[in-house]
Amino acid sequence: MNLGVVTLLLAIVGGASGQYYDYDFALSIYGLSSPNCAPECNCPESYPSAMYCDELKLKSVPMVPPGIKYLYLRNNQIDHIDEKAFENVTDLQWLILDHNLLENSKIKGRIFSKLKQLKKLHINYNNLTESVSPLPKSLVDLQLTNNKIQKLGSFDGLVNLTFVHLQHNQLKEDTVSAAFKGLKSLEYLDLSYNQMAKLPSGLPASLLTLYLDNNKISNIPDEYFKRFNGLQYLRLSHNELADSGVPGNSFNVSSLLELDLSYNKLKNIPTVNENLENYYLEVNELESK
Ligand SMILES: *[C@@H]1O[C@H](CO)[C@@H](O)[C@H](O)[C@H]1NC(C)=O
Ligand SMILES: *[C@@H]1O[C@H](CO)[C@@H](O)[C@H](O)[C@H]1NC(C)=O
Ligand SMILES: *[C@@H]1O[C@H](CO)[C@@H](O)[C@H](O)[C@H]1NC(C)=O
Ligand SMILES: *[C@@H]1O[C@H](CO)[C@@H](O)[C@H](O)[C@H]1NC(C)=O
Repeated sequence: MNLGVVTLLLAIVGGASGQYYDYDFALSIYGLSSPNCAPECNCPESYPSAMYCDELKLKSVPMVPPGIKYLYLRNNQIDHIDEKAFENVTDLQWLILDHNLLENSKIKGRIFSKLKQLKKLHINYNNLTESVSPLPKSLVDLQLTNNKIQKLGSFDGLVNLTFVHLQHNQLKEDTVSAAFKGLKSLEYLDLSYNQMAKLPSGLPASLLTLYLDNNKISNIPDEYFKRFNGLQYLRLSHNELADSGVPGNSFNVSSLLELDLSYNKLKNIPTVNENLENYYLEVNELESK
């Protein structure tokens, strides 16, 4: 096996989730890299619009040739992005930068908002302290987990933003409340493993999945969950909910299919709707009646 093949295998393992086109990609594993690829990276011949530059100890973004739409730069040591890094690929659709050393101050200019076709932006496991901005209106899927984010910019105008992953950061409720107002397409929001002491206000009514587990939330405002039209999956485990902070009908929401309230301090079992399929309550302080 030569080094190129090893790198490819790592790329496949690293992106094992079904949302990547790894099946097509696997078929081409022994194929040659197409000629105008960056020399250190791999652009599979049968999938030439993808460029794989994972695990190469890169310190900066390599040359990205025109025609690339899917760019993988995972597991490197990239600590800055120059203003012109993507000048030849303004139609980039996926940009995957997980496991690097990026800080906000070293990401120059409006590099993301210039990418008018960008749908997927993943900067998980880096050194960000704020969300990156501005972002292009085309964005659908934003992942910024496992950083040190304390502050969110506004996601105003991101009409197609559907999936947001922000788990394992240092977010408090105020910055979250301000950020998501007005988003019309947001369906999936993961804010677990942050530092929220209250439920954020202003979350979009379109949410179907809301994960808030592993925060420090101690109460639910009256009717809080009524604003969501179709909320199906709600996780609030590992918070500080006690009976006094949970109004009687808080979780009686007809669209809910899954509710996780485990690892709180509840003594009574909150009322739920009959449509609920999965209800998790372990490790509370339930009193048998
Ligand atoms: C963009 O393409 C031009 C012309 O081929 C080249 O000189 C330049 O280095 C490229 N920029 C990047 C960042 O790859
Ligand atoms: C970036 O994050 C890594 C891993 O968490 C850490 O070792 C390093 O000190 C951080 N660098 C800076 C400049 O914060
Ligand atoms: C949002 O998505 C729709 C459907 O895919 C698309 O037609 C539209 O151009 C997108 N809007 C933006 C601003 O990218
Ligand atoms: C739950 O809400 C429904 C309306 O959605 C209502 O008819 C029902 O009485 C409520 N259940 C309880 C126990 O309050």
